[in-house]
Amino acid sequence: MIRAGLAAALICTSASAADMPAPKSGLEYVSPETRALQADDFANPGMLWVSGGADLWRAATGTSGKSCQSCHGDAKQSMRGVAARYPLYEPKTKRPIDLQVRINQCRTERQGAKGLGFESEELLSLGAYVAHQSRGLPVKPPQDERLTPFIKNGEKLYFQRMGQIDISCAACHNAHAGQRLSGNLIPQAHPTGYPIYRLEWQSAGSLQRRLRGCMSAVRAEPFAYGAAEMVDLELYLMSRAAGLPIETPGVRP
Ligand code: HEC
Ligand code: HEC
Repeated sequence: MIRAGLAAALICTSASAADMPAPKSGLEYVSPETRALQADDFANPGMLWVSGGADLWRAATGTSGKSCQSCHGDAKQSMRGVAARYPLYEPKTKRPIDLQVRINQCRTERQGAKGLGFESEELLSLGAYVAHQSRGLPVKPPQDERLTPFIKNGEKLYFQRMGQIDISCAACHNAHAGQRLSGNLIPQAHPTGYPIYRLEWQSAGSLQRRLRGCMSAVRAEPFAYGAAEMVDLELYLMSRAAGLPIETPGVRP
């Protein structure tokens, strides 16, 4: 919970894009213990979701009787770099689509299986497995002008004050990155490790779950899972993070 005095101090500083320091992963704002946990594949709890995803990748399901592997082969090759360029433009809906919705699309439309719920174990696992194939590759947002209005909307939301505390994402993450808030350092909000394993959750979780947490912390009504605003925010955050390496599975406090 954010203490009122500190929140007031944060609000007093107006935030602009110019306040943004050189991009740094959230990993640089966590304790040495948490960093060590992420770095060690045998200790990183997020690797449980990655290996669960590997099993699902090979499992035939749905009316097609096919697995992800039946069509895509070895994920190490076919999924390499994919997470680094999502969300991308989906001509069918004329909107950006993020990686988890893309995976679900393949499940329902190509495998003929039931769609997976947001934050379900299976969707997080498949998401972690697919994104893990891009670990170490730089975030590379697509150069696609059809995405421009959605990035702009995400940016608008990022700079807009929200919640009872009446504060924007930027006031914390641009103007006050590196400062301590309720025990943790405020990171720059680069979504490079998702799905992450969060110690506070004792579980893996998606970027949308993380964003909903920030919105609840400032006592704003969080956007629903899958909401257009949510995807626009994800898209804007990925555009800000261009060049930083994908870390999935990240570990955060
Ligand atoms: C009052 C300050 C504050 C506001 C406002 C805020 N956040 Fe955060 N945010 C935090 C803190 C503190 C953390 C790190 C907490 C932790 O990991 O324990 C965080 C974490 C994050 C992360 C995770 C970064 C990583 O390394 O995985 C993202 C992404 C993020 N915030 C985005 C947002 C967005 C988008 C908004 C606006 C909708 C927002 N935040 C509003 C304080 C804030
Ligand atoms: C019946 C064949 C088939 C199955 C089964 C299938 N896919 Fe796909 N998938 C495709 C095709 C074809 C595309 C390309 C579609 C397009 O770009 O319009 C695709 C695209 C994708 C993409 C986007 C790749 C990119 O470069 O943007 C991802 C991610 C993906 N699939 C993941 C999965 C996962 C995870 C599963 C299993 C849950 C799966 N797919 C099952 C055929 C399949």
